[in-house]
Amino acid sequence: MLSGPNLNLLGEREPEVYGHHTLADVERMVREKAEELGVEVRFVQSNHEGVMLDELHRARLECDAVVLNPGAFTHTSIALRDAIAAIRIPVVEVHLSNVHAREAFRRRMVLAPVVRGQVLGLGPYSYVLGLEAAVHLARGGSR
Ligand code: DQA
Repeated sequence: MLSGPNLNLLGEREPEVYGHHTLADVERMVREKAEELGVEVRFVQSNHEGVMLDELHRARLECDAVVLNPGAFTHTSIALRDAIAAIRIPVVEVHLSNVHAREAFRRRMVLAPVVRGQVLGLGPYSYVLGLEAAVHLARGGSR
């Protein structure tokens, strides 16, 4: 589970958009689901694009799938797009908010063509569903 910029501030950051759950709360919910599914989850959050690139590269060797909330890099990062295209493991993109119901600039999603799927607009539940989807894909399930 890789979360990008500003997601460390969940809970205090624009609660009218992102709600009151912290990233630690989200992690707890995801870990509960992971236990149910019998999978191990590594949680990483970074405010730095280069660190996120390194984590994606590392995931290709150490993980079976990635659930990615790229934060604002969703709308800008060709480097993240290329990293996702470069690795073979499935990447599921998640967002807490429904980006399509927000500012026009958020409708440009540069990672969308290279991720296996997206879950958005469901708050922390987007992460939980993202994990379910990632496990399904990692276990050889089809779309
Ligand atoms: C976000 C949506 C992005 O547009 C925004 O820049 C974020 C959070 C979400 O989870 O809703 O930082 O990825």
